[in-house]
Amino acid sequence: MTLPARPVVAIAGATGHLGQHVTNAFLSSAFLDKFSEIVLLSRKEPNLLQPSDVRAGVKVTTRRYNENNLEEALQGVQILVNTVGPGGHEFKTKIAAVLPRTDIRVYFPSEFGVDHYVHDFAHLEWYEKKKHLANSQPVVTHMKICRIFCGLFLEDSIGPWFGLDTKNGKYTSVGSPRSPISFTSLQDVGKVVASLATFPEEKLPEIVHLAGDTRSISEIASIMQAAGAGPIEVAEIPYGAYKAKTTAESSWDPAAYLRFLMGDGSINHSAAGLGNDNDLVNPGQRLWRWKTLEDLARETKGRPWKDTVWPPK
Ligand SMILES: NC(=O)c1ccc[n+]([C@@H]2O[C@H](COP(=O)([O-])OP(=O)(O)OC[C@H]3O[C@@H](n4cnc5c(N)ncnc54)[C@H](OP(=O)(O)O)[C@@H]3O)[C@@H](O)[C@H]2O)c1
Repeated sequence: MTLPARPVVAIAGATGHLGQHVTNAFLSSAFLDKFSEIVLLSRKEPNLLQPSDVRAGVKVTTRRYNENNLEEALQGVQILVNTVGPGGHEFKTKIAAVLPRTDIRVYFPSEFGVDHYVHDFAHLEWYEKKKHLANSQPVVTHMKICRIFCGLFLEDSIGPWFGLDTKNGKYTSVGSPRSPISFTSLQDVGKVVASLATFPEEKLPEIVHLAGDTRSISEIASIMQAAGAGPIEVAEIPYGAYKAKTTAESSWDPAAYLRFLMGDGSINHSAAGLGNDNDLVNPGQRLWRWKTLEDLARETKGRPWKDTVWPPK
């Protein structure tokens, strides 16, 4: 059985930080009519989502789900996008367990970050993501699983939690400030998922690396200064000692880990780094124009997260 011409897609975690952007992309005129039904899944009251309706001949429905009715909630769905957040690892395990009793042919697990499969250290959050793939892979052999690695969310990343302290005019990199780092805006990640969901199963890759923009910390400082940030000092912390200290204790928080990954090229989703699939999902930028660091700089006058007090009190 292959996917129907206009499959039914469901979005788990549709109310979330990323899930809202994924939902908006599926509901946009560029993608809506490629599907016969778009199902928004939430554990909350359905009226927190958009009311069910029909748009341009496409059913848009909301279903309330929980760990006890997953099989029922996923009935009739052929493509499942999982955007469940870091709090939901056990819930995701329950989703993996019911997959064999559904019609799902294509599954996008909740990755949407860095490619932790290349790491040489352990981290609790990324361990759970690996475990989810290991749980999902063997249960349905005819199902295509596509993991999307988009690097860092553009809007969330030029902040003091990554050493990029606009308020005090200082960017501190762990390792070289000239290492390229890939960023993708939340909206563009949503469009990437919707675009990939239109692919025939046989053309859908198992792994996708994306980058709305790839820039080093030194370049980002220049871009922000040109947009009005004022002077930004770029400093460097030695990589080896920082990584050794950070990885010495297990953690659920990825921020400190991401800082050294930014410095060692592990979030470089360019052709010269981990590879780049931008042209596969958005050939020649004909579907949309990727949001860049310059766009973010223009929007924020070079001062993203300028009022943030860090660490939080
Ligand atoms: N690349 C990056 O920079 C970056 C940054 C942040 C996150 N991410 C990744 O993006 C993905 C989505 O993260 P997010 O920040 O958008 O997540 P989020 O907003 O924290 O959560 C998304 C949704 O997941 C559902 N959820 C939360 N806890 C749950 C639980 N215990 N059981 C079942 N469902 C639960 C909730 O939906 P309902 O309450 O409506 O059911 C929530 O709205 C994750 O894989 C995350 O690692 C990447």
